Amino acid sequence: MLVFSASLREGSLNTRLAALAARAIGAQGGEADVASMWDFDCPSYDIDVQDRDGFPPGADNFRARLLACDGFVISSPEYNASMPGVLKNAIDWVSRYQPQPFNERHGLLMSASPSMSGGNRGLWALRVPLEHLGVRLYPDMFSLAQAHLALDGQGQIGDERLRDRFDANIANFLDLVEASKHYPCVKRHWVEYLGEHPEPSLDRVEGPPR
Ligand SMILES: Cc1cc2nc3c(=O)[nH]c(=O)nc-3n(C[C@H](O)[C@H](O)[C@H](O)COP(=O)(O)O)c2cc1C
Repeated sequence: MLVFSASLREGSLNTRLAALAARAIGAQGGEADVASMWDFDCPSYDIDVQDRDGFPPGADNFRARLLACDGFVISSPEYNASMPGVLKNAIDWVSRYQPQPFNERHGLLMSASPSMSGGNRGLWALRVPLEHLGVRLYPDMFSLAQAHLALDGQGQIGDERLRDRFDANIANFLDLVEASKHYPCVKRHWVEYLGEHPEPSLDRVEGPPR
């Protein structure tokens, strides 16, 4: 599982939650590849820059680590009821590779915020581009409200019921990924703009993975 926080800042609440997710994945017998948002940092997306210079190292890294995992976990801050621009920018860069590496990857979203909503609105916004790109997003999301208080001195979720809910969310997600890996369902083509009669020479149309 690729696990990362979409916060760049030191002392990030989301980075602490991502670390808990990695630990929970390990406890469930999974393997976590913990990344930093700095690993995926990219210049502002510009098609001219892409045409001139190709992909930046941050996008190459994000893509490679997506391709190497069965699924990913993002713990994302909520910025103005949406996702941080740095995350959307990295998603935009990676969406330009062909084949498009988000397609048919499993994803679990979580957030931490000092607010009472725990950054949950930002996750609903983050679902939009990821679902558009064909990510199989797990329905349950985990948002840690008042995260500055909810995380104790050891970096644990202090409240036992919340901790159980967090662990169950991870365990259930891993079960689904494991089942899907061994019992794959029908693969679908990925087409960037549905309903536009895609033309492979012009549009981003991909066949099912071989
Ligand atoms: C530009 C900006 C916008 C923010 N907007 C929201 C918001 O809409 N909802 C919210 O709960 N917190 C918001 N916050 C507060 C963040 O949740 C808080 O800074 C949090 O600690 C960021 O996550 P991190 O600790 O992982 O860096 C915002 C912070 C910034 C810098």
